[in-house]
Amino acid sequence: MSLNAIDTDAEKLPFEVTPSSVTIGGEVSDLDLRNPLNDEQVDGIRTALLDRKVLFFRDQDITTEQHLDFARNFGELEVHPFAPNKDGYPEVLAITHDRDHPGQENGWHSDVTWRLEPSLGSILRCLECPPIGGDTLFSDMYAAYDNLPEAVREKVEGKFALHDFEGFRVRMRARGASEQQITEFNKAYPNPEHPVIRTHPETGRKGIYVNAAFTKHIIGLDQADSDALLSVLYLQAGNPEYQCRFRWANNSMAFWDNRACQHYAASDYWPHHRIVERVTVIGDAPYYTEDGPVTNMDESPFRGRIKRQHAAPGPNLFKT
Ligand code: SIN
Repeated sequence: MSLNAIDTDAEKLPFEVTPSSVTIGGEVSDLDLRNPLNDEQVDGIRTALLDRKVLFFRDQDITTEQHLDFARNFGELEVHPFAPNKDGYPEVLAITHDRDHPGQENGWHSDVTWRLEPSLGSILRCLECPPIGGDTLFSDMYAAYDNLPEAVREKVEGKFALHDFEGFRVRMRARGASEQQITEFNKAYPNPEHPVIRTHPETGRKGIYVNAAFTKHIIGLDQADSDALLSVLYLQAGNPEYQCRFRWANNSMAFWDNRACQHYAASDYWPHHRIVERVTVIGDAPYYTEDGPVTNMDESPFRGRIKRQHAAPGPNLFKT
């Protein structure tokens, strides 16, 4: 894949990776996560993840401890301060939806960007799948950035945006949190300012790093200009060309790189149950550098309207 800084070289990996779409997603076979991974396997997963942005694993009938052990190969784990954790496992986020609790992760986002040091990656395991529906979609934020109209890129390169956990505040109030508790959370989790375009710390590639769930506004712009620009950036995630879609089964797992992609959990299975558990690996403070690998747009696999849009920016949204 010429647009990827690091190509998965199947011959060098100790397992097979079947690509899910052109630039994003890969299904890993021949790996049994009940067993501890050796160094070669851990390196292989890191390499494949950097290339594919999200990896999928099937038939992993593992314990919660094995889920945690797998995740610890890739860094320290976070405890989510607002969302319910699995009993006895503070590092395991229990995401349970049923008739009384319909799905609500159906918005494009990257996990916990309201943290000063947001997540490197998340590892989700499906315990109970609805009979149909409940897929998770993933969108490649490098491709989303590479194919931005030049006029938009010029407006956002080097800018910062404010992030906030507003959605969780609403849910905490609904669960009965007092205003004093909310004030304490506000102090403990001050709003971070992250680059709108983030340089990936391992691949050096640039990707869009704002999302509709947690980004409030772009610093230094008035609200109308910020909203207009953010809406262009948010729409990028919705391009099917940059996406892959994962159909879950019980004991399927997904490991995604929050620095390189966004995800969206389709909420189309009510009133059925969907029970998944997430373990989240801590990342580092996002940054932006001007240099880094430059994508040669003539090699872009995305022709047609997307390519034309890049070559010839559309309406002049942002007059100087
Ligand atoms: C999440 O947004 O972290 C959960 C995704 C999912 O449930 O598929």
